[in-house]
Amino acid sequence: MREHFTLDPELIFLNHGSFGACPIEVMQAQHEWQRQMERNPVEFLGRRSATLLRQAREQLAAFVGAQADHLVFVPNATTGVNIVARSLALQPGDEVLSTDLEYGACDAAWQWVCRQHGASYRRVPIALPLQREQCVQALQSALSPRTRMLYLSHVTSTTALILPLAEIVQAAHAQGVPVLVDGAHAPGHIELELDALGADFYTGNCHKWLCAPKGTAFLHARPEHHERLEATVVSWGYVAGDGGHTGFDAYTGRSVFERRLQWQGTHDISGCLAVGAAIEFHHRHLGPAVRQRCHALAMAAMQRVAGHFGLPPIGAAADFAQMAPLPVPPCDTEALRERLFGVHRIEVPVTRHGDRCFVRLSVQGYNRPSEVDRLVDVLTRELPRG
Ligand SMILES: Cc1ncc(COP(=O)(O)O)c(C=O)c1O
Repeated sequence: MREHFTLDPELIFLNHGSFGACPIEVMQAQHEWQRQMERNPVEFLGRRSATLLRQAREQLAAFVGAQADHLVFVPNATTGVNIVARSLALQPGDEVLSTDLEYGACDAAWQWVCRQHGASYRRVPIALPLQREQCVQALQSALSPRTRMLYLSHVTSTTALILPLAEIVQAAHAQGVPVLVDGAHAPGHIELELDALGADFYTGNCHKWLCAPKGTAFLHARPEHHERLEATVVSWGYVAGDGGHTGFDAYTGRSVFERRLQWQGTHDISGCLAVGAAIEFHHRHLGPAVRQRCHALAMAAMQRVAGHFGLPPIGAAADFAQMAPLPVPPCDTEALRERLFGVHRIEVPVTRHGDRCFVRLSVQGYNRPSEVDRLVDVLTRELPRG
């Protein structure tokens, strides 16, 4: 499996979660699209891109259990969150509800947007170890008549937990509150059925666990919200189609949603067009059996490290997929990350949540058990117990 990737052979790469890793054949597919683009950039970007992007969206939509008309490509999940946050017509006194497990950049986006409108951004503490019912209840009881949106991750960033999304969406909808899901880590990592899930908005990265080229992600929105979404960059889609046709299909699109959000000025769409190749790679090499093996390796490592330090894991096996937060005694997280990388050539992030510290292990199909063992050995040998 490792031969499909260009990862440094000197490195123990246990951080697929941060930026993914793109297989050689997917990079080749992207380069082939770039080559086609440069044969006649005007033909490719101006006249063919709308059709090509639609085909790419159809492949992606089938993979995530959605309809192609309900999703658009965005460069990353941060952009997806920003589009939804900035489109929300908040009033002074309104509230956006979230958890204390969210990704810092997206917290920042919500804090900024709420401040602009005199609204507040409230992060509900989620008790750890995660108790799924308790988590749903904590969020449910925090909803109020002023809640305009519930925003939360599908798979959390520093703690790698899979949140009980279906139940939370149901609870929010029962009180008329729309839900935005930050699924940055979900596509290719856990099975997605976005139509069945029914979240109002869902943004997911293709460049992490789906192993697509960097800068590929999507924003999915239920159709009743399409006309309310504003692009972060206003471009041709706001005028083309209202009589302002420029002759380039790329600028038009078949719906307001597609027109506003698909074209944000000239950019390289080759990564999005190669998402189909990433899906094929995923089907061929990263199927359920491989992912189950990775999950089992991650869970065994979590149990060993937790047992060694006498620190309880923050979730049960069902609360994780291929990422696991290995609980380590409180430490200088950056110093530990630097030591693991500099001395042991292990690329792995060290995270903090409150006063807990974790080594966030990612196991992807290209990882060997010996690599995970090496990390566990180093941690248990070198870190002081408690
Ligand atoms: C939960 C979560 N949301 C959003 C992001 C941001 O992803 P991107 O940088 O691709 O926008 C991350 C990145 O790790 C994340 O973990």
